[in-house]
Order: sequence, then structure tokens, then C-alpha cells
Amino acid sequence: MIEAKNATKVYRRGKTEVRALSISTLTVPKGQFLSVMGPSGSGKSTLLNLLGALDQPTSGSIVIEGREISKLADRELSQFRRERLGFVFQFFNLLPTLSAVENAALPALLSGRPRSEVLPRAHGLLEAVGLTGRDHHRPDELSGGEMQRVAVARALITEPAILLADEPTGNLDSRTGAEVLRLIREATRDRKVTVVMVTHDPNAAAVGDRIVRLADGAVVGDEEVRVQAA
Ligand SMILES: Nc1ncnc2c1ncn2[C@@H]1O[C@H](COP(=O)(O)OP(=O)(O)O)[C@@H](O)[C@H]1O
Ligand SMILES: [Mg+2]
Repeated sequence: MIEAKNATKVYRRGKTEVRALSISTLTVPKGQFLSVMGPSGSGKSTLLNLLGALDQPTSGSIVIEGREISKLADRELSQFRRERLGFVFQFFNLLPTLSAVENAALPALLSGRPRSEVLPRAHGLLEAVGLTGRDHHRPDELSGGEMQRVAVARALITEPAILLADEPTGNLDSRTGAEVLRLIREATRDRKVTVVMVTHDPNAAAVGDRIVRLADGAVVGDEEVRVQAA
């Protein structure tokens, strides 16, 4: 579960202050797939960064799986992120010199898990995301959709409790985007992974269980998605 309470984020640039976010309460239950929508500049990425412990609130609290993130030391925080959270971004962020399987395996290897355990799992995840036979391709030998599938496999390699995605389909054509979303949905549903996804696209948002809308840093809408997208 993730909980934001009276959470604000103020960015200071010289003498100007930008109040990017102001949330009274937002609770995301375990296993929920939450979509966050809102116009550009409404605070979506700021919210995601707080919910993913990538950034600290200016005031208020963010509690992720019982841990108040502002009370964690930097080392604890980075360990927590590495072990409990998975991230998928708009621009895939794969390492260009590594193969698909090495990219997918990397977060688990960095947290010290043995190659003998991680590599078979990375191969399995690539298969699960439809990339059989692409394990040894480097990113420049893959299409955008394939790169994002590798990024999804990479986000899941550590078996995270929470998956955070910022415009994961923003760089993909609509059909490829829909396939990547279906994958994220299927890969997270069985294991009750909590998903928070930022998107501009109403069709993408409707893949989730719930849609929260932001405007000027505040929640202006919060609704359950009744009909699952096909
Ligand atoms: N690092 C930063 N420094 C100063 N202002 C920022 C920074 N990041 C975001 N902002 C401002 O905070 C507001 C919310 O930004 P953001 O969360 O990126 O919006 P969104 O993801 O919805 O487009 C915007 O007005 C943006 O200009
Ligand atoms: Mg953004």
C-alpha cells in the first residue's frame, strides 16, 4: 500500500517558488492499478516521483509499505527502491552496450543476486513479454516496442511490490502501446503488484482499476474504472 498525506512539493528556482503538488490524502491499496491523468505541468511526474521514493515531499508524508520515506536514510532509501520498486519510463533508458537479457537482469545483479539465479529469470521474463529469440540483441537492434518490453522485464526482475510507470506508451504507436499495457497489466495482476501509471491517453488510463486526475497539483477527480478495456 502507498499513502500520501498532506503531501506538498514546492520547487524553488532563485526567488520563484512553484507549488507543483498539494495532495491531502491519496491511498493506493496493494494490487491496485492506478492511472494518473492531467494536463502537462499538472504535477503527474512529481506525484509519481514521490510515490516511488525518487524524491522527498516538501511537507507531509509518503508511506510506502509501512515505511515513511522521509525518515529513511539515503542508503536505506536506495536499497528500498532497488528491492521493492520497479520503474518504466517513456524513454526506455536501456544501456546501449548491454544485450536485452543483460539489461533485464541488471537491477537484480546490482542488488547482489547471483547470476545463476538472475539470468534464467531474465530469459523467462523476456519470453513472457514476447521477446523470445531477442535475448542477445542490443537496444539499437530492437524496435521501440521491443525496447519497452525489455524495460518492463527489467522493472519486474526483482519481483517488486510496486511498479511505477511514467508515460510508458508515450513513445509507441497506439497498437504497440496497447500491447505493452496489456503486458504490464497481466504481469502485475497475478502477483498483486501495485501499479501507478502516468499517462495522457484516456485509452491507456482505462486499462487501470482507477483513474486519478490532477490539475494544478491537486486531485480533481478520482473514479473507479468500471469496464475493463479489452
Ligand atoms: N525540478 C523542477 N524545478 C522546478 N520546477 C519544476 C521541476 N520539476 C517540475 N517542475 C514544475 O512543477 C510543475 C509540475 O511538473 P510535473 O510534475 O513535471 O508535471 P507533469 O508531469 O504533469 O507534466 C510544473 O509547473 C513544472 O514546471
Ligand atoms: Mg511528466
